[in-house]
Amino acid sequence: MRCARCDQDNPEGARFCNQCGAPLAAAPGPELRRLTVLFCDLVGSVQLANRLDPEEWHALLAAYQEAAGQAIRRHQGHVAQHLGDGLVAYFGYPVAHEDDALRAVRAALDLVREAGTVAVPHSGERLSVRVGVHTGAAVMGPVGSGGDVLALGDTPHIAARLQAVAPPGAVALSPAARTLVEHRVRWADLGEHALKGLPGAMRVHQAVALRTEGEEGAEPGRSPFVGRARELGQLVDAWDASQAGGAGVLLLGEPGIGKSRLARELRAQVRADGGDSFTMRCSPHTANTPFAPLAQFLRQAMAQAGAPDGSADALSGVLAAVGVRDERVVAPLRALLGLGRPGDAEAALSAQALRERTFAAATAVLATMSARRRTLSIVEDLHWADPSTLEWLGRVLGAGAPPGLMLLLLARTEFTPPWREDPRWQRLLLEPCDARDAAAIVTALDDGHLLGAEAIARIVERAEGNPLFAEEFTRAALEDRTDVIPLTLQEQTTARLDRLGPARQVLQHAAVIGRQFSRPQLCAASGLAPELVEEGLRRGVAARMLRPLGDDGDSFAFRHALLRDAAYGSLLRSSRQAGHARVAQALVAADPDIARRQPELLAHHYTEAGDGPNAVTQWLAAGRLALSRSACVEAAAHARTALRMIGDAGSDPAALALELELRLVLAPALMAVRGVLDPEVERTYARARHLCERLGNGPKLLVPLWGLWAYELMRGEIPNALEAAAQLRALAQAGSPPVATLVAAATTGMTLFYQGDLRGAREACAAGLGPAAPSPSAARSARGLHDPGVMCRAFHSLACWLLGDAEAAAAGTALLRESIPRLPPFDAAYAWCSEAVLHTLAGDAQAAAEASARAIAIGREQAFPAWQMMGTMMQGWSRAKQGEAARALPTMQRALEAWYASGARNLRPFFHALLADAWLAQGDAQQALRSADDGLAEASSGEHCWDPELHRLRAEAWAALGEHAPALEAASRAVEAAERMEARAWTERAASSRERILREQSARG
Ligand SMILES: Nc1ncnc2c1ncn2[C@@H]1O[C@H](COP(=O)(O)OP(=O)(O)OP(=O)(O)O)[C@@H](O)[C@H]1O
Ligand SMILES: [Mg+2]
Repeated sequence: MRCARCDQDNPEGARFCNQCGAPLAAAPGPELRRLTVLFCDLVGSVQLANRLDPEEWHALLAAYQEAAGQAIRRHQGHVAQHLGDGLVAYFGYPVAHEDDALRAVRAALDLVREAGTVAVPHSGERLSVRVGVHTGAAVMGPVGSGGDVLALGDTPHIAARLQAVAPPGAVALSPAARTLVEHRVRWADLGEHALKGLPGAMRVHQAVALRTEGEEGAEPGRSPFVGRARELGQLVDAWDASQAGGAGVLLLGEPGIGKSRLARELRAQVRADGGDSFTMRCSPHTANTPFAPLAQFLRQAMAQAGAPDGSADALSGVLAAVGVRDERVVAPLRALLGLGRPGDAEAALSAQALRERTFAAATAVLATMSARRRTLSIVEDLHWADPSTLEWLGRVLGAGAPPGLMLLLLARTEFTPPWREDPRWQRLLLEPCDARDAAAIVTALDDGHLLGAEAIARIVERAEGNPLFAEEFTRAALEDRTDVIPLTLQEQTTARLDRLGPARQVLQHAAVIGRQFSRPQLCAASGLAPELVEEGLRRGVAARMLRPLGDDGDSFAFRHALLRDAAYGSLLRSSRQAGHARVAQALVAADPDIARRQPELLAHHYTEAGDGPNAVTQWLAAGRLALSRSACVEAAAHARTALRMIGDAGSDPAALALELELRLVLAPALMAVRGVLDPEVERTYARARHLCERLGNGPKLLVPLWGLWAYELMRGEIPNALEAAAQLRALAQAGSPPVATLVAAATTGMTLFYQGDLRGAREACAAGLGPAAPSPSAARSARGLHDPGVMCRAFHSLACWLLGDAEAAAAGTALLRESIPRLPPFDAAYAWCSEAVLHTLAGDAQAAAEASARAIAIGREQAFPAWQMMGTMMQGWSRAKQGEAARALPTMQRALEAWYASGARNLRPFFHALLADAWLAQGDAQQALRSADDGLAEASSGEHCWDPELHRLRAEAWAALGEHAPALEAASRAVEAAERMEARAWTERAASSRERILREQSARG
């Protein structure tokens, strides 16, 4: 297929010309692009048109348009539109280059200069233009009946507005365009301008001129060199070896991996070592210019020697300075640079003969330089080398580099040298750097320490060992930019994608599937012909954008997340949506069980496809699945996503029911992650309860009410907890499933116990222990938190013991212990803890130590912090009672602090009682008094069940301090409180304390 623009013959099926990039045949469908738009307009065109006759005006316009078109095409821009005397050009469409913004600015500067050479008839004046340049996103789509593909959106509009604020003869840049070229261009500030039709003001800069090589601005915030010790060592070894025999190294690596930086480090070492070094650069602009890097190097040397425009004499001077004086070497180089002298023989040579002479001359320059002084010659970006340069380097390496010369060739990984493998040159592959080095690059750029550890870790993870990405992500983070791909990386990634030609669309389809995908998935989801998919995969792998995974030959991954993002980001929203819908379809077709196994994957694709109903269903399934695996963070995230999608459920019963289901996943998941006291937990349960009431869905109320009850209990709002328990009882009476009865019994019993109503607690718990109670596993299936059967059994035993029925307590404890092997870890720890509490009440330190050790072990293993803290408190108390108070006290204090830090308000009085007892064992009555006082203060929440013990401990502390009056008063209060609770065990204990204190008092007289 021939290109209409440049006549290049292209392979059948190609969409763009391989030579000039113009679209071939039918215009492609709309696509999203990042491109640089140049907008140019004539200054004073209305006056000119009025002054000149129509024919002259037309000729003048034609001359201007010709000059402009040339300047634009010279830099691979695409003239998209003529609007009267205005002109719009695109850089980055139809084919992107890595430096489109720079190309646009170069074209703009040329255009201003060249338009300025066009004379206006009858006036002696020259034409003057204004140019605006802006880089941004645009949808490229056919417009009008002509089918011209134009950029739609703000980007062309902004370029036009910038043009309008540029002074005559100037090039105005938007901030985005300037960011991309600022190190290659000298610019001046044009101040802030309000651009018509755009909100706010924009800071506009004028591109004044290109910087020459030597004066290129310091690269942006270069971070100190990190890592790469081994690679630098290998290069230094090669440098050392080059002294005797010359050395050649080909250093390969992905874009941005650090090839140039490593070369720069070597250069510094070489110079420190007394060696010489120079760099030749290949560039995409000169990929077809013979010996371009050598010519560019010589021109630069002349410019540095004070002859920027070059001359035969300047060239001779530059060459002489490095010892090259032989006319047979100098003359071909003169010809190469177009500085030939009239008598030069080169002018008469055939092209082939001249080429041979240039080869010889170039080689001689290297040999002469390195014979004079050891030399490191770097060739940058060999993947853009012209064929002559490649052939020349191949010859030098094939013959063996001359002694004293090290040739360091840098290229991207996709470059395959056309030379045979040869021990005289070595190949090094630069791998991604490790996370520590990447983090060092990030922190060096973040010199104001604005990024937290988490942000840094995120950047390091995203960069995947690519220093350039690490730098650009850091800059984006520091500047608070939210682009998925930093602007500075977009040109590079887009250009890499475009180089794939038609294979690009295969990668776009793959990107919709995700970072990893399989060939069958891709075929099914893309609907593309298998040959096209095959070709796309092959080219993607060859261009190092894709990586085969595993050995099956069917699985692939994008080499870097950024490449996937770039491919994905180039799709229009509508294409993405359609793509995701196809992927979801293909996933279900390939594996009908996928909705059960990986609902979150389906949910993701349905969401992106804009298929709300299917997405919400799958997110709910994903949330439930995650919750059943205790993956609470994920469960909460899935439920949240679905809730966001539902938004306001309004009054539609189906939507409300769905919302309820989601809240019933979110609430327990959040409670596990954030703790019961998080306000969002309460809001979620409260909303769930509201929904239940509204939907009249009785049984569903069980979980939210239970959650609310736990929430109130743990935050120390005992009356509210009691109310929730009463609602649960009402629910159970309304004929809800048997488990509701059990839950009502457990919650009522436990709350009454906390309140100090032991009889009520015993009675309530007993209701849950009857023969009608469901099996623990049935109860668990509907559970919100704990096994209600275990709760009933535990609090029944505790209440029995305090009420003086030690026998019933022991029997209940034995039953509970028997059931432990059948309980899941959470409830097993609960059972051990409750047994330990009973032993602390009974004062059995040894038994309490054993039971709490079991609870701690499970808590540690399963990461249930509450059981760990509680077990630690009781274990500490046991130790203290067994004579190890000094060791136990610090541990107990830490555990208590952790309990406070968790926000839980329940059990605080109990823990203070344990602590007071431990202080007494330690002989520190002051501290014991303080702890007991703290405990009583905490009991004001309504958790009065520990009051008798706290008063008794106060009495003991006062007595130990020799203060008998307050001791006696405290002991009396202990007796009163225990009697009020009918806690016979405590009444007896308190009464005997009071008698002892009385005895001591009377003994003192
Ligand atoms: N070891 C390093 N320590 C600190 N910064 C580094 C290191 N390696 C690379 N960088 C930084 O990362 C960025 C990219 O590196 P460099 O330009 O050397 O990549 P490259 O491999 O030459 O890429 P390209 O193929 O695009 O030329 C640069 O800004 C460079 O300073
Ligand atoms: Mg480089």
